[in-house]
Amino acid sequence: MRLVILGPPGVGKGTQAKKISELYNIPHISTGDILRQAVANKTPMGLKADGFMKKGELVPDEVVIKLVEERLQQSDCKRGFLLDGFPRTIHQADELNETLEKIGIPLLKVIQLDADDEEIVMRLTGRRYSPSSGKVYHIAFNPPKVPGKCDVDGSDLIIREDDSEGTVRNRLKVYKEKTKPLINYYTEKNLLVNINAESSIDDITRDIIQVLQGIIAIK
Ligand code: AP5
Ligand code: MG
Repeated sequence: MRLVILGPPGVGKGTQAKKISELYNIPHISTGDILRQAVANKTPMGLKADGFMKKGELVPDEVVIKLVEERLQQSDCKRGFLLDGFPRTIHQADELNETLEKIGIPLLKVIQLDADDEEIVMRLTGRRYSPSSGKVYHIAFNPPKVPGKCDVDGSDLIIREDDSEGTVRNRLKVYKEKTKPLINYYTEKNLLVNINAESSIDDITRDIIQVLQGIIAIK
């Protein structure tokens, strides 16, 4: 299972990646989560990334490519992995190909999630999360049991710094300019499968599993 989950900000990549990676017992590698952790820890990489992330711009390719290359070398990736939020540019995708070719493990599938811009703005402006447990909620679509508190550890839920409507709209613009071309890129490589992500969280998971089961059955 060597997978990429591709799609606009807020479409539900993290929500689905968490479920799929637990189901198939593979690491969920979210470049956004790794970068946010680096920002919180004020590491050199975090200090470099912070300004870009706050504005909803992409962090420079060389920073993210290095971080993913290092992560993929770790032993837990031998059984497979699920990349969430990477690649995001054609250059990142080319570098990923090269890295995986070197290790001799090409990608199995790229799962593209798709939803309308207004649905995305609604999802992101209502998102809340717990920095300590990492669990993600939505005030209306996926609420915690106690408003404002995490179900896992009772911590206070917060709003991500880049989830204000203005920044979300910029993230959508950046996605269309820089990341959307990857849809053609992976279609041409016969790796892309598109899944409509406007249905419920559980329905989308079911659709993804169906696709993956189909691939395993063919292999
Ligand atoms: P990253 O963290 O990857 O953010 P993103 O791609 O903008 O996506 P999000 O994490 O915001 O959304 P998601 O698709 O994971 O949705 P979620 O499941 O949370 O990147 C952040 C920043 O880091 C970038 O802007 C950039 O600066 C930098 N960066 C990261 N990777 C980079 C790279 N490769 N290159 C350069 N820079 C990089 O769901 C959203 C909400 O919707 C939640 O509230 C959830 O509960 C709800 N929801 C989910 N599914 C549904 C559903 N089916 N119905 C209703 N609500 C739903
Ligand atoms: Mg995410």
